[in-house]
Amino acid sequence: MVNHTPTSVVTIERFIIEQERLHPEASGDLSNILYDLALAAKMITNKVRNAGLVDILGSAQTENVQGEIQQKLDIFANETIIKAMDHTGRLCAMASEEEEGIVAIPREFKTGRYLLLFDPLDGSSNIDVNVPVGTIFSVVPKITRGRDGTLEDLLQPGRRQVAAGYVIYGSATMLVYTTGQGAHGFTLDPSIGEFLLSHPNIRIPEHGRYLSVNDSYAPLWCDEVRDLMRRYRGLDGDHQPLSIRYVGSLVADFHRNLLGGGIFAYPRNSQTPEGKLRLLYEANPLAFIVEQAGGLASDGANRILDVPPASLHQRTPLYIGSKAEVELAERIVGETVRT
Ligand code: AHG
Ligand code: MN
Ligand code: MN
Repeated sequence: MVNHTPTSVVTIERFIIEQERLHPEASGDLSNILYDLALAAKMITNKVRNAGLVDILGSAQTENVQGEIQQKLDIFANETIIKAMDHTGRLCAMASEEEEGIVAIPREFKTGRYLLLFDPLDGSSNIDVNVPVGTIFSVVPKITRGRDGTLEDLLQPGRRQVAAGYVIYGSATMLVYTTGQGAHGFTLDPSIGEFLLSHPNIRIPEHGRYLSVNDSYAPLWCDEVRDLMRRYRGLDGDHQPLSIRYVGSLVADFHRNLLGGGIFAYPRNSQTPEGKLRLLYEANPLAFIVEQAGGLASDGANRILDVPPASLHQRTPLYIGSKAEVELAERIVGETVRT
């Protein structure tokens, strides 16, 4: 029999307000930051959806601080987020993958008690082929005095995050965030332009189904990493074989594994001895979310959220996902990573 009982519709705005009520001491600033980020996500959604229709595809022919060719949508997403956030009086500085240094709050605006770090468009090399891309963000509190946020404020370990999340621009746009009270997912209903609660209190399965790794680096990995990957595939040891899934957009790979169970691994290799992914605006926010969902995130030996950052664009090896799979990674490759 079909159940016709209407389910309650909860917008992201209402959910954020209700979460805030659990903290009578809260000023509302953090809630508003999340709400402003949801607005930026809607604007980026529009551009991503139209990318195949208007002349925005292709590279902008400038290089970002990582030396990669910036895609036009990287620049658009970067500017959209900065413009959505800089005048609100809630932030005192920002940091972006697309900006070499600190993004200061212009003098004409008030500053606030939080800092925002973000990857405006993750997986951007996939745009031209219509594969999901994402946005990743992290919010930390100001710890120094004075009007403006400083490098010291930005370089806090991930365990100090007060909020983190990502947006995936997939077949639907979804926003997943945490403020330390579980990880919650919202799906954008394009007909009304609202993010609606679709995945309350996400729990990642303890064991994985999927392995997301770029296997073409195998010749550049150390023996321990190669051994680990053979175990995940059930070729050595007694591990149930995992299925390989690799999109090449961290957000998309992470999101699948968060819902379905699995591990995303980007080990260091002889060409990228520091790893590839960035600690502050890729690994840390996803680590906060995965832990809230019952999973783990490690650099192979250390909990990601405890790694002390030394620079804005610092890279890290990353093993993130279901608990059992990350624990296996630490057991097999830990000694090679520990410093
Ligand atoms: P970005 O587009 O923000 O620079 O990030 C790309 C990252 C990440 O999304 C993905 O997991 C990884 O690069 C893929 O790297 P490989 O092509 O080396 O596998
Ligand atoms: Mn990225
Ligand atoms: Mn990016």
